[in-house]
Amino acid sequence: MESIELRGLTRKFGSITAVDRVDLTVHTGEIFGLLGPNGAGKSTMIKMIVGLLRPTEGTVKVLGLDVVENPMEVKRRVGVLPEELHLYERLTGEEYLLFTGRMYGLAEDVVRRRTSQLLHTLEMADDSGRLIIDYSQGMRKKVALAAAIIHKPDVVFLDEPFNGVDVVSSRSIRNILNHLVGKGMTVFFSSHVMELVEKLCTRVAILKKGRLVASGTIDEIRASQSIGQDKDLEEIFLQTIGETAAEQDLSWLG
Ligand SMILES: Nc1ncnc2c1ncn2[C@@H]1O[C@H](COP(=O)(O)OP(=O)(O)OP(=O)(O)O)[C@@H](O)[C@H]1O
Ligand SMILES: [Mg+2]
Repeated sequence: MESIELRGLTRKFGSITAVDRVDLTVHTGEIFGLLGPNGAGKSTMIKMIVGLLRPTEGTVKVLGLDVVENPMEVKRRVGVLPEELHLYERLTGEEYLLFTGRMYGLAEDVVRRRTSQLLHTLEMADDSGRLIIDYSQGMRKKVALAAAIIHKPDVVFLDEPFNGVDVVSSRSIRNILNHLVGKGMTVFFSSHVMELVEKLCTRVAILKKGRLVASGTIDEIRASQSIGQDKDLEEIFLQTIGETAAEQDLSWLG
């Protein structure tokens, strides 16, 4: 079964078409990477897929369910790390995870066990008793990630999970994502960190001004764009979106 199916997905904001007729299929058990320059429509696309934003046109199916028709069922079965975190800042990290787990209806012993394991895995055990309002950016991101997976969702969506996290935490997040797909879950994330996308993802898609300009395995994209085998993802990305360093004129520097 396919985990995510987008057909003609479109979102307009006034005269701007943020996501423009996107067709995309993500298979179960994949780690799928969404790339695109700032403003390409990545966050808008993720918000529509998880039911936080209504499409102007087109359809989204997650786990075979139409997201507009089955919003509650989809929300129960997916986990989301949004671009802008809305955490309850007057709770400690631990309290926030306990609260989130209980909200999903998990048994108390299950919530406690998962909370402590997640805090430990994310190197947050020492800070679990501090208020979220006092957390650093990376610490907030890690708590939000833990909250996104505490109910064992079938599909996890992460909007720039590696943004602002240190090397050690980045490795823990990578390990967690690999662990999730190892258990049969599907992971869909956006990122500007090409090395990580290259390392982690089975397939990727590249958005440019709302349009999907490439998708597939990195090898498939190389072949479809006639890009050499020696080129890494950063070069593939730049070539696909049509940005070359030569277009910049720095002659004023002398
Ligand atoms: N609520 C909104 N109202 C008006 N325009 C919006 C809104 N949300 C997004 N947009 C516009 O839609 C386009 C896509 O934005 P989006 O946030 O999806 O990009 P992105 O690919 O996530 O970029 P970034 O890499 O910077 O996070 C942009 O032109 C943005 O200004
Ligand atoms: Mg974004």
